[in-house]
Amino acid sequence: MDVEKSGKRTAPSVTVSRLLRMKADGEVIACLTAYDYSFACVLDEAGVDVTLIGDTLGMVIQGQKTTLPVRVEDIVYHTRCVVAGRRRSLIMADMPFLSYVDEATALRNAGRLMQEGGARMVKLEGTADQVSIVTALARAGVPVCAHLGLLPQRIHKLGGYKVKGRDPAGATAMIDDAHALEAAGADLLLVECIPAALAERLARELRIPVIGIGAGPGCDGQILVLQDLLGITPGRPPRFAKNFMAGAASIQDAVQAYVTAVKSRRFPAAEHCL
Ligand code: KIV
Repeated sequence: MDVEKSGKRTAPSVTVSRLLRMKADGEVIACLTAYDYSFACVLDEAGVDVTLIGDTLGMVIQGQKTTLPVRVEDIVYHTRCVVAGRRRSLIMADMPFLSYVDEATALRNAGRLMQEGGARMVKLEGTADQVSIVTALARAGVPVCAHLGLLPQRIHKLGGYKVKGRDPAGATAMIDDAHALEAAGADLLLVECIPAALAERLARELRIPVIGIGAGPGCDGQILVLQDLLGITPGRPPRFAKNFMAGAASIQDAVQAYVTAVKSRRFPAAEHCL
């Protein structure tokens, strides 16, 4: 068993099979983004199950307007910083815009995130159009999280950050996409900004865990961008987010409150649904 020591306790590492077991047992999976060593330590101590080095770092760390300028080098660097503080949580690294345009490119860049960065799972955005990429990564032994719903890397194609899957055709297409990506070998599905009922249906139908952001309480797990949780989002925070610093004595307490609220299904509440 992959067991690693934290200052206060020894806890088994979160693995892909552990996430499957959590889903089967009805234990909600608490996920959060982090981009550096200090916050990785805070998240781990609070019991966050999956830590994502998201390409949101383009906005919250680099001050960019979108995630598009983020490079593989940036994710590798921040993943290494997070891995240095990680004891238990599963480290998932985002594949940036255009870093998985074909199978060879995807394999090369996923390899960099895992070998140079130390990630144990990669995440990529896309619909069933990513089936061949997911298949190639899965065959090579790369754990994959597929990202459906709002796809920020396609912002200039989509023309805005909008809720996806509200219309019956869009919902049906997303259900088909999700099944195709699971069959291709995805280990996790992340859904962003979709109706709660659709997310709940995906979680019910899929064998793999479904992690939601702006997708209601019926998912197998939840994720937030750390800056949204801390109430330091530049500009207006998204409607689905909650500032856990309000009333918290420390950052550690705020992250702990988030984990507790997710695990007890008190977050997201009705006011966080889209
Ligand atoms: O990049 C990121 O931080 C994400 C979030 C939406 C979870 O994908």
